Amino acid sequence: MYSLLCSQLKELIESCPVPVSAMANASSLLYYTLPDLNWAGFYLLSGDTLLLGPFQGRVACTKISMGRGVCGTAAQTRSIQRVLNVHEFPGHIACDSRSNSEIVIPLIREGTLYGVLDLDSPLFSRFSEEDQEGLQAFCDVLMTSLDWSRGLMG
Ligand code: SME
Repeated sequence: MYSLLCSQLKELIESCPVPVSAMANASSLLYYTLPDLNWAGFYLLSGDTLLLGPFQGRVACTKISMGRGVCGTAAQTRSIQRVLNVHEFPGHIACDSRSNSEIVIPLIREGTLYGVLDLDSPLFSRFSEEDQEGLQAFCDVLMTSLDWSRGLMG
């Protein structure tokens, strides 16, 4: 599943390496390929705030401070947050009341943090270690293949 997702993402990026376009398609690819998701998308770092980026799912909060919620924690610690039950995560930000588990992967390239990829599920314990590895590989493709030299709009 994830090797197919990674090769589809590579093809999409080859045809258009502009970050905002690739992230829009990446969120769609994940949302419509992986089962049991209610949200898939990006928060992008602007100063020390995460701003809502391309996503699929219901309307979400637009600004998350560093260290706040699952996304802010992943960004601040630069480590993947795989949360089996969001209701037990201190400070979890409930954008969509249907979410019960969540995984957030920091987007890092050459030591610079660009934002996070966030996936939410209505199922508890939706994301396994295998999902974590696959999503990290997916983000690695994104961070190494995109042309970030001219910013988000390319
Ligand atoms: N639940 C996240 C907020 C973003 S939404 O899930 C789209 C958090 O606690 O950071």
